[in-house]
Amino acid sequence: MTTLKFSIRSDAPEGATTPCLVVGIHEGRVFGVAAQGIDAKSGGALGRLVDSGDASGKAGTSIVLFGLPGIAAERVLVVGLGDAKKFDAAAYHRAVNEAGRALKALPVASAYSTLTSLDVAGRDDAWKVRTAALAADAHAYRYTATFKPKDAPKTPQLQAIDFLASSASAGRALAEAGAIAAGVRFARELGNLPPNICNPSYVAAQAKQIAETHAGVTLEVLEREDMAKLGMGSLLGVAQGSSNPPKLVVLQWQGKGDQSRPYALVGKGITFDSGGLSLKPGAGMEEMKFDMGGAAGVLGAFLAAVELKLPLNLVCIVPAVENMPDGNAYRPSDILTSMSGLTIEVLNTDAEGRLILCDALTYAQKFDPEVIIDAATLTGACVIALGKHASGLMTKDDDLAEQLLAAGTQTHDRAWRLPLWDDYQGQLESGFADVANIGGKNAGAITAGCFLARFTNGRRWAHLDIAGTAWDEGRKGLATGRPVPLLVQYLIDRCAQ
Ligand code: BES
Ligand code: MN
Ligand code: ZN
Repeated sequence: MTTLKFSIRSDAPEGATTPCLVVGIHEGRVFGVAAQGIDAKSGGALGRLVDSGDASGKAGTSIVLFGLPGIAAERVLVVGLGDAKKFDAAAYHRAVNEAGRALKALPVASAYSTLTSLDVAGRDDAWKVRTAALAADAHAYRYTATFKPKDAPKTPQLQAIDFLASSASAGRALAEAGAIAAGVRFARELGNLPPNICNPSYVAAQAKQIAETHAGVTLEVLEREDMAKLGMGSLLGVAQGSSNPPKLVVLQWQGKGDQSRPYALVGKGITFDSGGLSLKPGAGMEEMKFDMGGAAGVLGAFLAAVELKLPLNLVCIVPAVENMPDGNAYRPSDILTSMSGLTIEVLNTDAEGRLILCDALTYAQKFDPEVIIDAATLTGACVIALGKHASGLMTKDDDLAEQLLAAGTQTHDRAWRLPLWDDYQGQLESGFADVANIGGKNAGAITAGCFLARFTNGRRWAHLDIAGTAWDEGRKGLATGRPVPLLVQYLIDRCAQ
C-alpha cells in the first residue's frame, strides 16, 4: 500500500512548474504571501475572483483556476482559510484537509502546496509540513481490495506532493509523515477488509510480512495449544465458538539493545464481533468487522516506529480472535480462569474484548515493559460519552496521561481522559468468581477500563478506547487508522527526551 511521495520545495510559487499549485486566501480579501504573488503575476486574478463573489476565503471552501496568465502552474487550487485573525492549528487543519479533498478529485499526478508557508501560532515548519502531508495522504487513500479489478484510470491520480518550506527540520518532518502515513494506511486497509478475509490467521500473516520486510523485527505467533499451556482460559473462552483458530501475535523491535525495557503496545484484535450467544442485533452488526481496530492501530504504529528506526525497544502484542455463537461457544454464566489466575464470570458474551485483552496484558508483563498501552474498540458507552472525535483515555498515571494527551493534540488524533477510580470497581463484583465481565449500565467505558486494570498489577499502563474513532460512520464509512498518529507521536517524543 504505497503512500504519496512527499518532498520539500522552495521555488517561488508564481514561477513554479506543477500540475497544481495550492494557495490559501483568508476571508475579507486578505491574501497570504503566496496568494499575493499569484495575484500580482496574474494581473489581479485572485482579487477579481473574490470581488466577483466566486471565492469567499471561508474555511472549508476551495475553487480551481485553470491556465492563469503569467503563472507557470497548470492550475491553481485556491483554498479558503477563514478569518485571518483566528488562523490557528484547528483552522490550518481544516485548510489542509480541504486541499487534500479537492486534490483527490483533480486529474493531477502531483501538486505543490504553499499552505505550509502560512503562519500558524505556536507551530513550526515541521508540524505544518507533517500535518499537511498526513491530511493529503489520508484523502488520497482508496479502498480497492474487494472490487472487481478496474482498467487503469484514464486521468492521472495524485501520487506526489511538494510542500513550500525552507527550514532543515522540515526534512525530518517528511520522514515522520511518510512513516506515520504508511502506518495509517496499513491500519486502514486491515480494518476495511471483510472478516471472511481478515480473520485471525490473516492478521498473523500481516505481522509476518512486517517481520519479513524489516530487518531487526522478530515475530512469534502463539497457537491455541501454546495459549492453553500458558493458561489463557479467558482468551480461549472467547475463541472457542469460532472455527477460525485464535492467534496471539508478538512482534518485537530492538532499537536500543537488550538492556533497555521495552514499550509494550497491546491491541484488541476481534476480527468479527457477532456478540457470541449474547448476539448483537442485526442492524449495524456489519460494523463489527472493525472490531480489530486496536490490533490494526498497534500494528500500524509498530510499522511506523520500525520504519523510522526509533531508538527504543518495542513489543507489540495482538490477540486475534473471532467472537461467534456456536454449539461450542462460551455461555453467559461460564466461569473462565485467566492466565493471571483470576476467575471471571461471563455475564455477557458480547463483553469479549476485555476477556482477550486481560490475558494479553498478563502476557505483556513477561517483557517487564517500561509502560503498557492498549488500544481497543472496547465499548459502545465510550462512543456515547465522547462521540467520534476523541478516543477515551484511561490510566492512573498522570504523567503518562499528559504525554498521551499531548501526542494526540500534536497529531490531531485526540484523546480525552476518563477517571479510573477504584470507586467504580464495585460494579464488577461477582458472586461466583473473582470478577464479572460486565459492570452494569452506568459508566460502561470506565468499568471496562477497571476490568483491564485488575490485570496490570499496578504497572504503568494506559488504555485507549477507540470505539468511536477507529472508523467513520455510515454505510461507506472507512477505517480511520486512529490511533496510529497518537501512538507514533508518543514514541517519537520518548526518543527526543
Ligand atoms: N466491540 C464492542 C464495542 C463497540 C460497540 C464498539 C459499538 C464500537 C461500536 C464490544 O465488544 C461490545 O460489544 N461491548 C459491549 C459491552 C457490554 C456488553 C457491557 C457494548 O459496548 O455494548
Ligand atoms: Mn462485543
Ligand atoms: Zn467487541
